[in-house]
Amino acid sequence: MQLGQVLISENQIADAVGKLAGRVSRDYDLSRIVLVGAMDGAVCFLSDLMRAFAQPVDVTTVRMRRYDGTHGGEVTVSWLPLRDRIEGREVLIVEGIVDTGETCAVLSERLSELGAASVDICALLDKPSRRTHDIKATYIGFEVPDVFVVGYGMDYNGAYRSLRDVCVLEGGESELN
Ligand code: IMP
Ligand code: MG
Repeated sequence: MQLGQVLISENQIADAVGKLAGRVSRDYDLSRIVLVGAMDGAVCFLSDLMRAFAQPVDVTTVRMRRYDGTHGGEVTVSWLPLRDRIEGREVLIVEGIVDTGETCAVLSERLSELGAASVDICALLDKPSRRTHDIKATYIGFEVPDVFVVGYGMDYNGAYRSLRDVCVLEGGESELN
């Protein structure tokens, strides 16, 4: 397993983040929105996106886990915001990468149960070739091929999260974690 080429550079990411914030601003009343960052993969994307809006937005986080380490298994939520942060709000899930779609599907359902007025998804990266769950992600930064990527918040077993660019991990199958 070794770090491969830069797939999406820091500059390309910065440009995409600005454009996504612009689209969200046109579509939503920002005073009603709450960004829900899916930790830990969305850590960089959330912190850049939330500061790209021209007015303050509410921000909170969730943490998703798979029971079965790196090879899939059932997605569970290990922390969620309290109901009073979500009820009646326009929720925008902020995710680093949508792969099978299961994480977003489970999270959308839990946020709806908490009384969200609406739930949509903003993901920096989308790997549509591996989708098994029918999820709607209105805001996507980049489509990526079926390679394992790291950097800008995304990790391989905890490594490479702090890279500024999104890079390919050579020899990494598309594992889930
Ligand atoms: P999904 O539930 O299959 O859509 O997977 C989403 C989660 O799997 C993301 O939040 C990431 O944590 C992880 N993931 C999927 N693909 C990759 C990848 O290429 N690199 C790093 N993490 C990934
Ligand atoms: Mg991960």
